[in-house]
Amino acid sequence: MTHASTQLFPVILPVSDADQRLHGRDKVKALSRLARTALMTSCEKSGLYLDAFPKNEKRVPIPVGGVYWSLTHKSDMVGGVASLLPVGMDLETIRPVNDALLAKVADDSEWQLVDGDRQRAFFRFWTAKEAVLKAVGKGMVGLSRCRVVAIADDARMTLTYEETRWPVAHFWLGGHVAALTTHHLDVFWTPPRR
Ligand SMILES: CC(C)(COP(=O)(O)OP(=O)(O)OC[C@H]1O[C@@H](n2cnc3c(N)ncnc32)[C@H](O)[C@@H]1OP(=O)(O)O)[C@@H](O)C(=O)NCCC(=O)NCCS
Repeated sequence: MTHASTQLFPVILPVSDADQRLHGRDKVKALSRLARTALMTSCEKSGLYLDAFPKNEKRVPIPVGGVYWSLTHKSDMVGGVASLLPVGMDLETIRPVNDALLAKVADDSEWQLVDGDRQRAFFRFWTAKEAVLKAVGKGMVGLSRCRVVAIADDARMTLTYEETRWPVAHFWLGGHVAALTTHHLDVFWTPPRR
């Protein structure tokens, strides 16, 4: 079954209580492993195939056989997605943030697009920018070139990175928000089930 040309299947998995209790390198390893399980599930749902997860010297995932991939891990949830086009995924836990962080994530013209709760909007901006920076393989060094240019609704916004427009889809899960960027048309989220 191949939907891969236009459809995308990001998968989010919960981290077990035992893995959440790990620390340091053991925890990083467990989260990375679980994120790759989410990625493989995304591959199955998409009809795509990955048998390795190579990264370059800057830790940017390298596509394998034309399949791009992106991972994200937080201490209680992880996500993964495979795609035939460049893709980026990010997940954050919603928590109170101070004014300095609000100013770091976006400038005044971007904040003017927001009508409503700035704390909630902060995590949309943050995850959207992280997702785009992953898709372009830049990491945080590209932050100043990544801008929010339109907010359509609670789940869709558009960013630019230099001259390129990146549509971003958001998915709300209780105290978390996930963002995905891609040029695919349809996104089908698989939420975590405990
Ligand atoms: C490295 C970065 C790409 C993502 O960091 P993060 O949000 O801490 O981490 P996530 O768990 O969401 O993602 C980690 C995965 O991203 C991938 N990744 C790492 N560097 C990457 C890069 N430069 N480009 C694309 N993907 C990258 C890796 O696959 C990694 O997983 P792995 O180590 O298991 O292979 C980068 O955006 C960063 O340094 N963020 C710091 C946080 C910050 O200041 N954010 C401000 C947002 S406005």
